[in-house]
Parts: sequence; structure tokens; C-alpha cells
Amino acid sequence: MRRPIIAWVSRQFHRIYYHWAGPQTWEVNQFLSVKVLKCPFDLWIYQEILFETKPELIIECGTFNGGSTLYFATMLDILGQGEIVSIDISPQEGLPTHPRARFIKASSVAPEIVAEMTALSQGKRTMVILDSDHSCDHVIKELRAYAGLVTPGCYLVVEDGNINGHPVFRKHGPGPTEALEIFHRENRDFEVDQSRERHLVSFNPGGYLRRK
Ligand SMILES: C[S@@+](CC[C@H](N)C(=O)[O-])C[C@H]1O[C@@H](n2cnc3c(N)ncnc32)[C@H](O)[C@@H]1O
Repeated sequence: MRRPIIAWVSRQFHRIYYHWAGPQTWEVNQFLSVKVLKCPFDLWIYQEILFETKPELIIECGTFNGGSTLYFATMLDILGQGEIVSIDISPQEGLPTHPRARFIKASSVAPEIVAEMTALSQGKRTMVILDSDHSCDHVIKELRAYAGLVTPGCYLVVEDGNINGHPVFRKHGPGPTEALEIFHRENRDFEVDQSRERHLVSFNPGGYLRRK
């Protein structure tokens, strides 16, 4: 349990970092010169998770510029195994190339894509990252479609649960955090790994789920 003053200061810093300073901070972060829309604290946590769990397959929903895909592919290369498939309904132009990365242009919840990812994940240590449409309706569909593909011991990461006032972007409306509330009522296979939020600011509060 964090002391209230630490929780309060962390929330205020999170709001400043996200809103006021956003154009100089997370909105312009780059990995190997490709834009990546993540908080650096979370990127640090990701490389720890990859080293510990050594996934053979990462399914990423939400590519945008492909900076996060390139980051994961590079980390997999350092570990000497694995591939990432990144799915986006409308990716940006000029995506990076990497031998361990593949891009698919489609909706993450299209039945044929879910079927393709289900087949691809068979027999592989699989990790899933949900970072596409952050509306509650969409995230709960993704959770229902992809949670079962995650290998026990591996992670299902639900990105951007910080929006809708948790503690930023109050006006967003129901998002990932609200989808997670629904998900946890219907699925007992995952535990929230709060140790992954130890840097006090994470864009993914309650979003690091480890399959039991
Ligand atoms: C937050 S960005 C992804 C950021 C990227 N993962 C990163 O860390 O840099 C969200 C992306 O989700 C995509 N998207 C929105 N709806 C989608 C859907 N139904 N299926 C797949 N991708 C979707 C958007 O086109 C956008 O590029």
C-alpha cells in the first residue's frame, strides 16, 4: 500500500506528464527514430517481462507508427528468439522493417484475424498486448478474443487504462479500465501483477495481467 502523499504526488505528476507536457514527452518519444506512444517507465517494464517470460510469439493490437513493434522485435532479437505480429486497422505510412516483425492491416477483432492468430499461437509461448481502440466496447471484445491465447506464466497487457480519469483524460468515456472490470468478473485465469507499476507512473494501471 502506497502512502497517500506518494499516491497523490504520483497522480499529479502523471497528469502533468500526460497533458501539460505531453507534446514534449510521451507524444514525441522515439525508439530507433520511430515514434512510440508509450511511457518510458512502461517500456522498461516490458523488457523485464520479455526477459523473464521469453515469449515465442507476441501479438500486438494497435501498430500506429510501428515504434512499439520495432522495440519488441529488437528485444526479441537480443533474446535470440520469437516474432511479433502487429495488427492495425489503419496503420501509419512507412512502417519499419525487422526480420522478427510482421504487420497486418485489419481490425483486431475481425473473426478471420482472431482465427489466424489463434492458429499461429498454437504450441507457442504467447504474449498479447492490447493497444488499439481504447473504448470499453472494443477492449472487452479484444479481451474475450485474445485472452485464451496467452500461455500460462505469460502476460496479457492492456494498455492505456490511465484514461477516463485514471488519472488522465477524464472526458474519454469508458475505456480499458472499465473493460477490465467486466473481464475480471467473467474470467479468473489472470492475476494483476501490480509489481509492474512500481515506477509510480504507468500508462497501464491494472493492465499487467499474468496468466495463472
Ligand atoms: C495507441 S495507437 C498504437 C500505438 C503503438 N502501439 C505504440 O505504442 O506506438 C492505436 C492504434 O490502434 C489502431 N486501431 C484503432 N481501432 C482498431 C481496430 N479495431 N483494430 C486494430 N487497430 C485499431 C489505430 O489505427 C492506431 O494506429
